[in-house]
Amino acid sequence: MLHNFYPITEISQIGENIFTLTFRSPEMASEVRPGQFINIRVNDSSTPLLRRPFSIYHVDRGKIQILFNTIGGGTKILSGKNIREFLDVIGPLGKPFTSNGNFKLAILVAGGMGVASLPFLTTSLTNHGISIETFLGARTSNQLVTKYLKNVHIATDDGSEGYHGTVVEMLLEYFRQNKSIRPMIFACGPPPMLRKISAIADDFNFPCELSIESVMACGIGICQGCPVERVDSEKKYSLVCKDGPVFNSKTIRIKADD
Ligand SMILES: Cc1cc2nc3c(=O)[nH]c(=O)nc-3n(C[C@H](O)[C@H](O)[C@H](O)COP(=O)(O)OP(=O)(O)OC[C@H]3O[C@@H](n4cnc5c(N)ncnc54)[C@H](O)[C@@H]3O)c2cc1C
Ligand code: FES
Repeated sequence: MLHNFYPITEISQIGENIFTLTFRSPEMASEVRPGQFINIRVNDSSTPLLRRPFSIYHVDRGKIQILFNTIGGGTKILSGKNIREFLDVIGPLGKPFTSNGNFKLAILVAGGMGVASLPFLTTSLTNHGISIETFLGARTSNQLVTKYLKNVHIATDDGSEGYHGTVVEMLLEYFRQNKSIRPMIFACGPPPMLRKISAIADDFNFPCELSIESVMACGIGICQGCPVERVDSEKKYSLVCKDGPVFNSKTIRIKADD
């Protein structure tokens, strides 16, 4: 795990309240794995006090890119950063996805900003010769981010693009129409979506990894503030920041109010 100040090389608005930010860190870029995240201190003041976690969106020639939605104070500050400013970053953090397992087809599923961890995963799976189908859900079409992804199936809540409905409904239809496939599922998004994906994986008996977003304080396993319930061991809880954010779906239970 590294902690340093890295120069920002790009910041762009790419959708409604959606931004990408790139910084240069060859040492972090060579260590990081798909599914891991970084923890950013957005300014020097005590507001906001805590670092903000972001998935690794894209890695290219010593540069790391994140994708984020401006939902509160921290992300608004981040969206106002300028090129050549230095960013206070800790990372890479957390456990990565399994991108070289015993499977030939990967089904990638994301809702909302969960899409942020898929491009880097796509690169890694492609390098391992694994076929990919990607299922993306968003509220509306200008919230969709499809760059760097492969074979994208789109669902929007308002029907402005692609399937009119949820990404979970679209995925279920796809599985019913493609009965012979034996994929591995990778899913990132809000807890209700992940709970449903986990149930679908169980029903079809497909291996599945979930990347969980939880509100975090320390981000490094100290404060115990990001528990997720375990179902496979005597240990009752795991920590999203240290034991995750990626978990085998059979090992955890995502509660309705998570
Ligand atoms: C491992 C991990 C990876 C993440 N990766 C990304 C990413 O790649 N791109 C991205 O846009 N966001 C990502 N997030 C979420 C991101 O960290 C939060 O959106 C950010 O911390 C919000 O900070 P803020 O100061 O702007 O908002 P705040 O003022 O802290 O919060 C604004 C509102 O959003 C809610 N909120 C804050 N964090 C979350 C969360 N994690 N889940 C649900 N609601 C939340 C708060 O309860 C509040 O209602 C990730 C979170 C985790 C844990
Ligand atoms: S955020 Fe502190 S232990 Fe996970």
